[in-house]
Order: sequence, then C-alpha cells, then structure tokens
Amino acid sequence: MTRLSGSSHSIWLDGGLVDARGPHLNVTDRGFQLGDGLYETARARRGVVIELDEHLERLRQGCAALGLNLPISDDQLVVGIAELLAAEGLDRAGSVGEPSGGPVGDAALRVTVTRGPLERRGLLPPGFEDLVATIAIQCWPYVPTADDLLERGVRAVSSSIRRDSVSPLAGVKTTSRADYVYARLEAARASADDALFLTLDGLLSEATAANLFIIAGQTLATPPLSAAILAGTTRTWLLAHAERLNLVAAEVDLRPAELLAADEAFLTSSVAGIVPLVSLDGRSIGTGRPGSRTRALRAAREDWIDAMSKAALLPGPAD
Ligand SMILES: Cc1ncc(COP(=O)(O)O)c(C=O)c1O
Repeated sequence: MTRLSGSSHSIWLDGGLVDARGPHLNVTDRGFQLGDGLYETARARRGVVIELDEHLERLRQGCAALGLNLPISDDQLVVGIAELLAAEGLDRAGSVGEPSGGPVGDAALRVTVTRGPLERRGLLPPGFEDLVATIAIQCWPYVPTADDLLERGVRAVSSSIRRDSVSPLAGVKTTSRADYVYARLEAARASADDALFLTLDGLLSEATAANLFIIAGQTLATPPLSAAILAGTTRTWLLAHAERLNLVAAEVDLRPAELLAADEAFLTSSVAGIVPLVSLDGRSIGTGRPGSRTRALRAAREDWIDAMSKAALLPGPAD
C-alpha cells in the first residue's frame, strides 16, 4: 500500500490516508471478486456531511442485511471523513477554488465497505465469519448538475430489468450494481439520460441512482418502500418538507400512466439533488418541460443544505 506523500490526491483506507493512485486492494477482496459489499454516497458542504447520521445508519442496516461485521465505530468513520476532506482541501468554504464550477468547499463523498480479502474460492467458504471488512472513503470536488440538464430535464426509458419487491436486498445499497449499469446502458443506447425500473407487478420503482417523485395537483407522490426502492435520504427529506410548497406528501403505488399524466416529475439523490424528469420512453410527462414547483423544491433543498452546513459550523456553547 502506498502511504500518502506530498500533495497527491488521497483516499482513506482502513484507518489512514493513502495515495489515491494506489495500489490499494488485495485482489482477493470480496468486493472486487463478488460485489460483496455496500456503499454510501453523500454530499458535503463546508466540510459538513449532509444527513451523515442517516447515511451511516443506512450503511449499518445494509451491513446487518449482508451479515457483514463493520469493525469501526461511527465516530471513527467521522474522523476518517474529516481527515480526508481536510487533506483534499474540501473541509471549509474558501479552501479550494472553483475548478468544477461548484460552490467552494463542496464535495461528493463515498464510503465503501466490503467483506474483505479471502484467499479461498467460493461464496461462503470456511473462515468467512472471521473476515475483516475493507473500508474506503473517497471524495471529489462537487460537480453541480449541469445547467442544460436542469433546463431541459431528464429523458428516461423504462428498463427491461424488473425489480422484485419481495427481495430482501431490494432496498440495500450493495456494491453489486450490474443491473443498474445495464439499465444505464439501455438508456444510453436509446439516447436517453436515465432508466426507470418497474417492479415485476408493473409498478414504478426508482431510477438507476435516484428516487422518483411526481406532482399531481397538490399531491407530491413517490413509490412506497414496498416498490423495491432504496429508502433515499433526499426522498425522506422531501416527504418531511413537502408542505413548504403547499404540497401533501404521499407514498403510493404508481404506474407509468400516472407518471405520464402528472403535472411534473423529478428524480432525487444526495449528490445531484432534485432533478426534473420530463419524458418516459419518448412520451412527455406533463408539458414535457421542467416544472416550476420542481424548480422551487430544488432551490428549497439547496438552501436547506447551505443552512445545515452553516449551522453545523456555528460555535456551540462554551464548555
Ligand atoms: C438506486 C438508488 N435509489 C435512490 C438513491 C437516492 O438516495 P439518496 O437520496 O440517499 O442519495 C440512490 C442514491 O445513490 C440510488 O443509488
């Protein structure tokens, strides 16, 4: 493993900073061999990770679902994240220029946990219980969603891959992403931006890396957790803050016809935020243009992120 030297880019791996150019991992690592791992992607502003507790909680739930022992406390992870953001100059406003056009101090952050290295072949060979998880933290300067995409909106296709709503892993953010990559390839082949998954029952589920919402009248609707979705942190935030725009939030089964008949639709994720969705399989949603309420919700979320990061940096009461 190459330890960090000088000013080269770094990642945090198993307890310390290492040179991002690697090499890093044992080839027997089960994340590499089998996609046997989990990850979280979050946004940081001014070095403050937005909804960090929710991301760490989801990571721990995913570890429990996969029977993967995470040998590190949340506090240790938080220290690792802080070390990495500081090393990359992404820990405070004004610490970096605006190479990506993003607000200073903004970062995208990824925490990946795998079951660790194991010499033996097979899915669960003897000794798998004793494996020590590999933990990696990466960060990048935040690249805001492109203005032209926000102006024209996402065009989606429906993926030929169906989601199984009774699968125990349907809502787990594993590193096994072949289905999602395949769906993105389907979108690319159709010259679209993204793909939506349907469940085996024909219900709308989610996009390849985002949750789905529609606005119909005063209702802000999103598929329920039973539609084989990830319980997105941005989705949870929206359900709690819908009334800001006089919307009534609802988790309801949705079909493609309801999406096409909606006034507006959008996708949500921690890093990209709230992004308008304007068509499915070449058919317009609403007017086929990003809607004003989607725009307002996006602005409200961005303002909230900014306020949260400032509030977290305010000095607390003197000890
Ligand atoms: C499949 C999928 N659904 C939904 C989301 C949105 O989750 P969050 O809002 O927590 O970023 C993601 C995020 O990466 C995702 O990969």
